[in-house]
Formats: sequence, C-alpha cells, structure tokens
Amino acid sequence: MSLTIPIFKLQYSDSDRAFLKNGLDKILDEAYLTNHSFVRAFEQQFSLWNSSKYSVAVNNGTTAIESILRGLDVRGKEVIIPSNTFIACAVAVLNAGGIPVLCDMELEYLSIDPSHVAEKITRNTGAVLVVHIGGIISPSIITLKKICDDYGVPLVEDCAHAHGASYQGVRAGRAGAAGAFSFHMTKVMTTGEGGMVVTEDEKIQRALQSVRQFGKTEQNATMHDRDGSNFKMTEMQALMGLLELQRVEKRIQKRQQIAAVYDEKLKGSSWKTWSAPPSGVCPYYKKIVRSPVPREKVEETLNKNGISLTGGVYYIPVHKQDVFKNKFPGGEFKNTNSFSAEHFCPPCYPELELTEAEKICDVLLTIAK
Ligand SMILES: Cc1ncc(COP(=O)(O)O)c(C=O)c1O
Repeated sequence: MSLTIPIFKLQYSDSDRAFLKNGLDKILDEAYLTNHSFVRAFEQQFSLWNSSKYSVAVNNGTTAIESILRGLDVRGKEVIIPSNTFIACAVAVLNAGGIPVLCDMELEYLSIDPSHVAEKITRNTGAVLVVHIGGIISPSIITLKKICDDYGVPLVEDCAHAHGASYQGVRAGRAGAAGAFSFHMTKVMTTGEGGMVVTEDEKIQRALQSVRQFGKTEQNATMHDRDGSNFKMTEMQALMGLLELQRVEKRIQKRQQIAAVYDEKLKGSSWKTWSAPPSGVCPYYKKIVRSPVPREKVEETLNKNGISLTGGVYYIPVHKQDVFKNKFPGGEFKNTNSFSAEHFCPPCYPELELTEAEKICDVLLTIAK
C-alpha cells in the first residue's frame, strides 16, 4: 500500500514563492552570493525574533555547534554531551579538538541528566552541551546551569529542535554562553542547510565571526590568528531564512495544534506522550510517544494504514554508534537505552491535517488501548 501520510511534507505558497523570486533577483543584482547583505539582514531579524543580542549565521547546525566550541577554545578539553542526541554533537566536539564525554538522560523531559553531569564535570571540562529534544526545554536546565556556573564551565545549548521554544520566558539559546540552531530541511525553520548561533556575549560573537571565515583577524582580512574554517552562509540560504521568519509563528502554532491532538486522543491510554513543562513553550519539532508494544508492530500497523513514522530522537544513541563502539561503555546509559528502544515519533509537521493526526491516533488505539 502506498503511504498517504508521509514522513514529512514541505510546501511553499504562491506568496512565499513570489518573495523568494523577488529576493533572488535582488541577490543577482547585487552579485555578491555569500555572507553579505541578506545574511546580515537574516542575522538581525533572527536576533529580534529570538530576543537575542547577537546572531551569527553559518552553513549548518553541526558547524554552529563546532564554531561555538572553537570560539570557547575547547581544544584538548572534555566536552560533556548527552548520549541521547544526533551524532552531529559528537562530531562537532571532535572537529573542534575536544574530547566527547557522554552522559545519560532524564526521562521526564528527555534532557541530559544533571546528576550525571555533576559526576563527570572536572577541571578539564571545556563546555557542557544541552540538547532540547523535540523542542522541549527541560526545567532541569536551571540545575544544569548552576552546576556549570559552580565549575566556571560554559553551558552551550543545542537548539536544533527548539526554534521558538522557551522555559520560564527565556528563549532557547539564551540560558548559557551560546545556542546553536539548525535549519536543515525537516527543522521548524529551514534554509535547506544552514545554522545560526545566538549569544548575549559580544566577545563570543566576534570570535564566531572570525571562526566562520578561517579565523581571520578583524583588522586584516588576510591575517588569521585563530583556529577557524569555512562556515559561511550563502545569500540564497539567508533569503530562505528571511521567508521562514515571516511564517515561523504560524507554522509553530500548527505544530502545537497537532501535538495537542495527540495528547488529547491518547490521554488515559497506554501511549505516553511528552509535552512542554508548565511555564514552557515547545514548537514540537517532534511529537514523542512511548509505545506500550514493540515499535516494529507500531510501524507495521501504521504502514498498513498508509501512515509512515518520522525519524526518532534517537533510535541509536551516540554510545551505540559503530564509529564510537567500545569507546563508551553502555551500562551507565540506562535511561538512554530504554528511551531509544521504546519511543517513536508520529508525523508532526505544519502540512499535516489535524484530521490526519486524529486518524493516526485511532490506528494506534487499535494496537493498544
Ligand atoms: C540535536 C541535533 N543537533 C545537531 C544537528 C545538526 O544539524 P545540521 O543537520 O544542520 O548540521 C541536528 C540535526 O539534524 C540535530 O538533530
């Protein structure tokens, strides 16, 4: 049976297309295709939207994390990350010359477990990376920040899932030293590939402007005094970002409505859904559900009904990735191991109809009440 509810859909209206065509004309008139006026405009508007002081655009979410870590100079130091994350986090640490140290997760809001961080943080810790899974900022970020402050270690936020998220009124990326956003195709905002770093610290902003351009000095474009690379964003990516800023609030609202359908229909059943905490706002990059039956059965039944599952967050945690095998013993990641085996993500994107989310719930309830 062909799938009628796909993993993901992305649509652009006529007015979206007109905005892009018009912008492309301007870019071609300026004939300056990278890291120029559209990138500056996107950075300024992103800062306004996120209530951040500074934004630095880069070419993807992985290099957004890497450039923060390079800016903080973690070379030779340990960087604490959750094992329940995308492999990009570990890659970014390694590329910045750091040593990834993995921690387990808490199950309430799916964030890195602060008590595990407290056990692993040392004088040689260069940064702690917190990942807002599915767009949920866990209340445990308060404890995490305190642990980091006590050790004088910068807290870095991976906001790849968390555009528009907040906890107690504080937007994603504003709790620690800096936050890294991804604009990959499936994200809450997309530029195809792309990333943004937000920070309140002018020193970090300046460092990242240098890092993304091969570590060049401000005074002399041909003299390089820091460990940099080429992380620049193109003008076409920035144009798409400007469009996304115009439509992101509406698109987040739709994601929240879909998430509410899952919560409402599955309430009181054996299907547990994860939601934003009280005082939290979540854009629901993913709606995360724990299955009471083996996940293969869920996938098979949904597929039979024309419904496909979106990728999980995450089925294979970092410590189980082949490339890191034998580096990180699995025993201490109890919560990560159970969560990665039991959860799944039903479709949740603005192009999904609310009636489709209802249908998905109806099918799930035929598997288990
Ligand atoms: C949690 C997390 N961090 C980082 C990234 C990397 O972002 P990108 O794909 O833009 O490099 C992703 C992306 O998919 C992600 O899910």
